[in-house]
Amino acid sequence: MKRLVLFALSFPLLSASPCLAADLALTPPMGWNSWNKFADKIDDKTVREIADAMVSSGMKDAGYVYINIDDSWEGGRDAQGNIQTNSKFPDMKALADYVHGKGLKLGIYSSPGPKTCADYEGSYQHEEQDAKTWAAWGIDYLKYDWCSASKVYPASEMKAVYKKMGDALKATGRPIVFSLCQYGQQNVWEWGASVGGNLWRTTGDIEDNWKSMSTIGFDKQTANGKYAGPGHWNDPDMLEIGNGGMSTVEYRTHMSLWAMLAAPLLAGNDLRNMDDATRQILMNKEVIAINQDKLGRQGYKISKEAGAEMWIKPLENGDLALALFNRSESMVSVRAVWELLGLQGKQKVRDLWARAGLGSFRDSYSRDVAAHSVVLLRVAR
Ligand code: GLA
Repeated sequence: MKRLVLFALSFPLLSASPCLAADLALTPPMGWNSWNKFADKIDDKTVREIADAMVSSGMKDAGYVYINIDDSWEGGRDAQGNIQTNSKFPDMKALADYVHGKGLKLGIYSSPGPKTCADYEGSYQHEEQDAKTWAAWGIDYLKYDWCSASKVYPASEMKAVYKKMGDALKATGRPIVFSLCQYGQQNVWEWGASVGGNLWRTTGDIEDNWKSMSTIGFDKQTANGKYAGPGHWNDPDMLEIGNGGMSTVEYRTHMSLWAMLAAPLLAGNDLRNMDDATRQILMNKEVIAINQDKLGRQGYKISKEAGAEMWIKPLENGDLALALFNRSESMVSVRAVWELLGLQGKQKVRDLWARAGLGSFRDSYSRDVAAHSVVLLRVAR
């Protein structure tokens, strides 16, 4: 049954976050990460094939650049304490050269604890040494995952522990994106940028299902919005698009929500085997443009009623991204009233998934939105 949803909430303008002098990640990082699809079944050959597919599929042209190896590449240490790769990754420098040769960048993973979450070697007491090793290999991105650090540090030292690696990365002189992963503990959004973080996970791990994705995306990103901006982003975790646990409609909602959140766009699927629906979702340039907008504002919810949520994201050129989401199990009719969005007079409306202009509308715009679906619009003044 259809329900008419009238929105009449206030317009909470978040204060713009201070723009730090970071020249890395000035827009949310875009790339791929091995964990969601491959977990510990990732190796040199697969990473090379993924890099090839990043280029041949058009993902690179769409803006995806980082190829990030997650947990399970680590070997032990040599007599001098230098971190080694395990047999799945015979030569990390050669792999970095290969990835760089494609015009892409290579990311890696570690933990401030003695062991990573999957029980491989961590960077505990080898922080500067590991940062130097990664820089020498040609690494461009580090995901630094708390894991067993909880066994050797009290939570109160978390900030200092992350700063230690942030400083070590800076000291290498190589630009390395620093991704904090400690699941949102200690309100990381309040201090992540100050320890050199370019992004920080805000929650526990995403799973490839509607409940997990929608809870993280819709409900858990409200307190942190004002801390996002060029160089430093909230990270609601990697994308599950194309992994099979959600419908095409739900994956489109996933992409739209991450675009509105100015979230890092790290594809988590097998880029070598993408169906058309997955390609169209991951490579919709107009949706990516919302995510990558240079103003760097994190979008936010302005109303919620009967499972329908309306979100906005102000854009650099004065346009407004407007998302009409339906979290419920049945169709809803949503009406966006210009006055309540701070807009006046006729507005030009473009549908970013239909990739079509819808015309100009005075006062408001109404649209039916199917269950778990989204209508993502760009409204031009
Ligand atoms: C944690 C992280 C995941 C992934 C795994 C690897 O669970 O949150 O994103 O990196 O560790 O072990």
